[in-house]
Amino acid sequence: MVLFVALGLLMAGFCPAVICEPDGTLGRNTEVQEDQNNGTRVDSLALASINTDFAFTLYKELALKNPNKNVIFSPLSISAALAILSLGASNNTLEEILEGLKFNLTETPEADIHRGFGHLLHMLSQPGDQVQISIGNMMFVEKHLQILAEFKEKARALYQAEISGTDFQQPHEAKKLINDYVKKQTQGKIKELVSDLDGKTLMMLVNYIYFKGKWKRPFDARFTFESHFYLDQKRTVKVPMMKIKDLTTPYFRDEDLSCSVVELKYRGNASALFILPDEGKMQQVEASLQPETLKKWKDSLRSRKINQLYMPKFSITTDYSLEKILPQLGIREVFSTQADLSRITGAKDLRVSQVVHKAVLDVAETGTEAAAATKVGYGIALILNPLRVNFNRAFLMIIFDTNTQIPLFMAKVTNPRGN
Ligand SMILES: *[C@@H]1O[C@H](CO)[C@@H](O)[C@H](O)[C@H]1NC(C)=O
Ligand SMILES: *[C@@H]1O[C@H](CO)[C@@H](O)[C@H](O)[C@H]1NC(C)=O
Ligand SMILES: *[C@@H]1O[C@H](CO)[C@@H](O)[C@H](O)[C@H]1NC(C)=O
Ligand SMILES: *[C@@H]1O[C@H](CO)[C@@H](O)[C@H](O)[C@H]1NC(C)=O
Repeated sequence: MVLFVALGLLMAGFCPAVICEPDGTLGRNTEVQEDQNNGTRVDSLALASINTDFAFTLYKELALKNPNKNVIFSPLSISAALAILSLGASNNTLEEILEGLKFNLTETPEADIHRGFGHLLHMLSQPGDQVQISIGNMMFVEKHLQILAEFKEKARALYQAEISGTDFQQPHEAKKLINDYVKKQTQGKIKELVSDLDGKTLMMLVNYIYFKGKWKRPFDARFTFESHFYLDQKRTVKVPMMKIKDLTTPYFRDEDLSCSVVELKYRGNASALFILPDEGKMQQVEASLQPETLKKWKDSLRSRKINQLYMPKFSITTDYSLEKILPQLGIREVFSTQADLSRITGAKDLRVSQVVHKAVLDVAETGTEAAAATKVGYGIALILNPLRVNFNRAFLMIIFDTNTQIPLFMAKVTNPRGN
């Protein structure tokens, strides 16, 4: 199972002549305060819950705008990039970004938000020998643009964001530089993050996540067979369907919401939650997605033997222009001529013109070669009715880091063949 995500925030200068003189305004009391508010630090669990709220809110917008389509995104990638951007924002622009990310600024001061993210990214980037997660941030900045030292330092200290001077007056070369960088960081999976760059672009912030996990109990490729996946009640597509027998794994049948929830663990500190709504119940489940629902599912999961589990093998890709979606979450001003990104350059002549987010998700048997050697623990020998879970219709998938409970990414698979 492999996930690749890249996000780019493109920033363009506007108002070429008139308002472009720097005015040095730094907003009201929104500076990162280094050592205050120690009692209200966001710990990673609080951050996980806030980020889950953001993930579900964004999910609903994406699913609404793309009905019956596959959805894949990384809430962590998007929120980390926007949090870095917020280091450069002031006034309303700043508040909208942080509130759009579901932070309550009365409860969580700005400095704590950044510390929380910084800590989280640091934890996630600890090398583990089992799950491979690499996450990083790079800012490509027009080489003539004067970036405030404070912004650079904070981005670097809190988010390990690197800065690369780029000649955006040569859009072809700049585009190649950025795309090559992303391609390299995502091991070749995301080839063209940016498709067009116009001469107005001054800055681009790129966040990428590369996740590669091996199932704790892999599927055996010898059992994979061609089968039907239901797009709706009538239409089907043929997919390679993986099969696993007698799998003991956390499971919960949610009768209230008419769905089954199965957790499949990766080796190491990551896990995937699969949610399979009953036929015709996807919309109902989607509408109920909120942090409390997720908590209920996680708390209700119990280890149980699934006699047969079927899961399509697939690779799907999505490509979003989030500048059209984020305003629905209240993040508006940063895309407008009112944008106040004065903590980046000292002037108010920057705005964000595009937010591109690409994600690729591969789910496969992965680790088949180890299948024979894998020991399966049958810790709980309950005698239950034979249970068969068949992911042969639209389902949801959420991948977590199990240490922090942060959702690394979220997907809806409506057509494993892509749509
Ligand atoms: C902050 O935003 C408000 C409303 O958009 C505006 O009236 C005010 O001038 C801004 N303050 C600064 C310091 O830019
Ligand atoms: C935490 O804040 C309290 C007051 O809010 C202060 O007395 C204390 O010294 C601070 N502790 C640290 C470690 O900064
Ligand atoms: C933010 O937190 C404060 C204090 O806990 C609370 O009164 C307020 O309603 C919260 N705002 C939102 C938008 O939830
Ligand atoms: C899982 O996380 C714990 C705590 O951070 C760490 O000690 C352990 O090495 C990790 N396990 C793997 C397999 O990466």
